[in-house]
Formats: sequence, C-alpha cells, structure tokens
Amino acid sequence: MEIPAEKWFEAVRKRSSIRTFLSASLKDKDEKKFTEFLDEWNEKYKGIRIKYVRDGFQEVAKGFVGSYGKIEGAQSYLVILAEKNTPYKNEKSGYMGEGAVLEAVSMGISTCWVTGTYKKKNVSKQVDIKDDEIIKSVIALGYAKDKTKLSEKLVKTIVSSEKRKPLEELCENGVDENWPDWVKTALETARLAPSAINRQPWRFRVEDDGIVVYLAKSDDEKGSRKLDCGIAMAHLEVGALCSGVKGSWKLSLDPEVAKFIKE
Ligand SMILES: Cc1cc2nc3c(=O)[nH]c(=O)nc-3n(C[C@H](O)[C@H](O)[C@H](O)COP(=O)(O)O)c2cc1C
Repeated sequence: MEIPAEKWFEAVRKRSSIRTFLSASLKDKDEKKFTEFLDEWNEKYKGIRIKYVRDGFQEVAKGFVGSYGKIEGAQSYLVILAEKNTPYKNEKSGYMGEGAVLEAVSMGISTCWVTGTYKKKNVSKQVDIKDDEIIKSVIALGYAKDKTKLSEKLVKTIVSSEKRKPLEELCENGVDENWPDWVKTALETARLAPSAINRQPWRFRVEDDGIVVYLAKSDDEKGSRKLDCGIAMAHLEVGALCSGVKGSWKLSLDPEVAKFIKE
C-alpha cells in the first residue's frame, strides 16, 4: 500500500506516548477501519505481521508499577510478530509498527509502544502464535484519558522536539544548510521518532543519492536498537514523501542499518 504521507506527517506531530487511557476497547467503527488498514499494511514485509487484539491489554501489562511502563486503562493492543528467519526482522518490525501507530494517531487513537514492561506469556494466551514466530513488541491502543485540544497538541510537538537530540548531534558531519529541502524535512521527521527509553540510537549520513541510517555506538542490545531505527526509517520516509521525494529502502549489514535511496 502507498503511505498516506500527509496524514502520517501530521500524525508525527500529534503523537506522543500515552500511558493513561479511558478504560475501553476500540469503538466498533474505529476497529473496523483500523483492521482494514492493517490487512493492507501487513502485506508490506513478508515474515512480519501485526495482529490486533480487541481486549486483554491489562492482563498483558499486569504486574508493572512505577511511571515507566505503567499503562492504565488500555484494553486493545497490537502485537508485532516476526518469523525467526526473516532477514532484518527488527528494522522491519519497527517500520511496520510505527506505520500502524501513525495510522492510529491520525484516527484519534492514542498509542504507546511497549517492549519492556509486558508479559509475553500472557500475550501467547491471547494470540495464536505460530511455532516459528517471535513477539517483537506490543503497542497499547485506546483513547487518551485527558483529551488535549489542538492548541495543546501543537505545544506537544515542541515538547517532543525538546526531548530529542539536535540534528547536529545525529548527523555524521553536522548539518549542512545547503541540503535540499526534502533532506531537511526527512531528517527532522526522523528526529521526532519515538524510541525505547527515548535513547534515539539512530545516526544519519547524507549522501548524494539518499540518506543512510546507522547505529550509534552503544552497549545496549543491538536487535532492539535496530527496531528503534526501523521506527525512525518510517518517519524519515514520511518526511521525504511529504516533500515530494519517493524512494526505496536498501537494508544493509552492521553498523549501517539501511539507506533510503531517492528515486
Ligand atoms: C520500541 C519502543 C519501546 C518502548 N517501550 C516502552 C515500555 O516498555 N514502557 C513504556 O512505558 N514506554 C515505552 N516506550 C515509550 C518511550 O518511552 C517513548 O516513546 C519515548 O520516551 C519518547 O517519548 P514520546 O513517545 O512521548 O515521544 C517505548 C517506545 C518504543 C519506541
């Protein structure tokens, strides 16, 4: 399916992780629309699928206390499943999961990625998981308890932006004022991507024909940082598309994650 670039670009600016939801499943009409989207989006990468679960998130999130990871109220959720032998399964899981997040946000559904604080065993009780599949993440879905007005959402973008590293730190050779507009927009959109504990493990290198995404040096587990990079890839592409530039991803080996090659 084609990425609905403008809709998702707007969602990038509205999105933030929500941890306090109304205690409700998705409304029937939202569920129908969202699952129709998922059927199409799931065609994107063979070996990765996103499964929607209407109820049961509280069972999955059960047992965790404290502000990080305590997700109240949400009933519905997504599970990202990857077949073990799928190449680049982490990057693809991040990319597909974030596509689902941006679609949800554009429908007024709030989200929170959850890779740490949930019980895999309880997910397995609720979802049919094939023998060769592993759970990469879950994403809580629902309606935020404190509905913010649009004006507050604009403030939110500023807050998210402040929570992120500046582009100068994320780009290998700093920022070049002469970069084409699409490059600037793509990088700025990628910069706003969410990541586990907001660690922003991605770095960028601008080349003549595209943008390389690679991993910052770190001792953290690589697989999960590559999932974060997949999320940033989805944002980067949305930014490029919104500036009128189509391209394709070439996934590559360590330490580079992928290159967005301009058409
Ligand atoms: C892959 C991934 C995993 C995450 N896991 C958790 C989690 O287990 N618990 C939690 O409360 N938040 C989790 N988050 C939310 C992040 O903490 C949040 O995205 C980050 O702090 C940036 O804030 P923002 O999403 O509001 O922009 C996760 C986010 C990502 C992208």
